[in-house]
Amino acid sequence: MRYSQMLIPTVKEVPADAEVPSHQLMIRAGFIRKLASGTYTYLPLGWRSLLKIINIVREEMNASGAQEILMPLLQPLELWEKTGRDVAFQEILFRFADHHGRMNTLSPTAEEVVTSLAADEIRSYKQLPINLYQICPKFRDEFRPRFGVLRSREFIMKDAYSFDATVEGLDESYRKMYDAYCRIFDRCGLTYVTVEAESGGMGGTDTEEFMVLSDSGEDIVVQTEDGSYGANVTRVEVDPPAKTGKAGRDAPPTQEVHTPGVGSIEAVCGFLDTQPHEMIKTLIYGAGEMSVVALVRGDHEINEGKLCNVCGVSAVELANEQTIRQLSGAEVGFAGPMGLAEKVNRLVIDHSVGAMAAGVSGANKTDYHVKNIVPGRDFPMEGENVLVGDIRNAVEGDTHEGKKLRFSRGIEVGHVFKLGTKYSEALGATFLDEQDNEKPCIMGCYGIGINRILAAAIEIGHDEAGCILPANIAPFEVLVLPLGDSEAVGAEAQRIYDELIAAGTDVLLDDREARPGVKFKDADLIGIPLHVVVGQRGLKNGTVEIKRRKDAEAMTVPAGDAVGKALEILAEMTKT
Ligand SMILES: Nc1ncnc2c1ncn2[C@@H]1O[C@H](COP(=O)(O)OP(=O)(O)OP(=O)(O)O)[C@@H](O)[C@H]1O
Ligand SMILES: [Mg+2]
Repeated sequence: MRYSQMLIPTVKEVPADAEVPSHQLMIRAGFIRKLASGTYTYLPLGWRSLLKIINIVREEMNASGAQEILMPLLQPLELWEKTGRDVAFQEILFRFADHHGRMNTLSPTAEEVVTSLAADEIRSYKQLPINLYQICPKFRDEFRPRFGVLRSREFIMKDAYSFDATVEGLDESYRKMYDAYCRIFDRCGLTYVTVEAESGGMGGTDTEEFMVLSDSGEDIVVQTEDGSYGANVTRVEVDPPAKTGKAGRDAPPTQEVHTPGVGSIEAVCGFLDTQPHEMIKTLIYGAGEMSVVALVRGDHEINEGKLCNVCGVSAVELANEQTIRQLSGAEVGFAGPMGLAEKVNRLVIDHSVGAMAAGVSGANKTDYHVKNIVPGRDFPMEGENVLVGDIRNAVEGDTHEGKKLRFSRGIEVGHVFKLGTKYSEALGATFLDEQDNEKPCIMGCYGIGINRILAAAIEIGHDEAGCILPANIAPFEVLVLPLGDSEAVGAEAQRIYDELIAAGTDVLLDDREARPGVKFKDADLIGIPLHVVVGQRGLKNGTVEIKRRKDAEAMTVPAGDAVGKALEILAEMTKT
């Protein structure tokens, strides 16, 4: 392609709302333009990159035996009601009425649609296993669309769904997808780690995320220092701490203190001159008909996924003010563990609360707190409705099986899930086994964020001058830069360009009538990994320059060897 004929609107200015490098550079390099919050147009360079990513994903999915289909993005909300996910996905589900008054949604994911398809088409174990996938837009009304295409409201996802007859079959399908994902991300030139993840609103058990470590990531990846274990912070299992302090049962008796209008942890700490780690946070939840009180230390964050697991329920919801008042007998902010255990269905105590010598918490009386609360003395640590477990997010200093944990930020580019039978049971996706017994299909689902791959590649591949893209996903593989307006330069650049094209290379020729400085600036910005520079002075000596975008220095090669050398470097760059 010729630069002069393409729409490559590079710009100097960084848009005010672009906080992270990939967002800034994708705008500056003319890859994307924003339409509205969380929606972007892909211009020719950005779209070329996305198509290359899509191609890699498609090749590897097909190689794994999965079959490509395309499902509607417009979906009846009724289908979502059958699995209860109209509620579980409440906030991010776009919903609207059509002119018949029927409610619809724009697909944020497609478990419901694919499972209803399986319900219609799969009859016998002989049709299993099967893995169906698609590559198409998804819509999520993200609470905070940001970071450009890293978290947008419309994005392209590859979503795959496996159906198996047995649990072992699911294990095999899952493993195949995991392996295909490794090949995909390797070919895309990403460095990544896989971590255990939390199953969230999806249901199911085993699930792992593919994370690209980057400061712009919104997830926290936790790994043991030896790298043998990794998990999302929302999932990581932390060791229970040793009992702290020495007071225990011999601590001074509890003492009620007047704390007028002081409800939050920070405010109480300031008022009573205590530290957050000496506080006990008392959180009241509902899980269906069940009332649950959870206790975590003031400096810790409750983890609702872990709380669900410990309670053996699929979802918990913070109680409303009225329920809190009713159970605690006080305004919000003054609940405490003393006397609450008897009133609720479950008291769930985090290990680190259990290990406290004594703590401060609400007094279940408006405007009052209690000091010297001793676990086991002032509220029960055991009993029929008492559970002690890991219900908080990991923090710096925690260990896993005795190993110190390391925290980093990560971008989730892919996710593999063992779903089980949640969807197949809800939507009647059953099959007849060899003995003619009707059984629900055992499912897995597997997502990849196509746009996030590109943004993540830029996050880990850029410098001040612009993007440094891996050759397999860059908009072009080679950029030929003729400098100056001499005819000899133009002819030599054209020859190199033609020969590279003939060799099957994806080349851009910067044929613009522009100063060398402008061409070099744009070349660095758009991130094509290999540059062939044809200048008048070099050509007089029969040489051209070849430069990897990531290198500071160019190599001078005889003009006649330029194509061969470029192909050689490119072969090295695209090897996986
Ligand atoms: N808003 C978004 N913008 C761009 N890509 C997204 C977005 N949400 C999800 N993805 C991509 O789709 C993949 C599969 O979707 P999945 O349902 O697992 O996302 P998710 O876990 O909800 O993502 P997140 O935790 O980042 O919100 C993700 O791994 C991610 O790469
Ligand atoms: Mg996910």
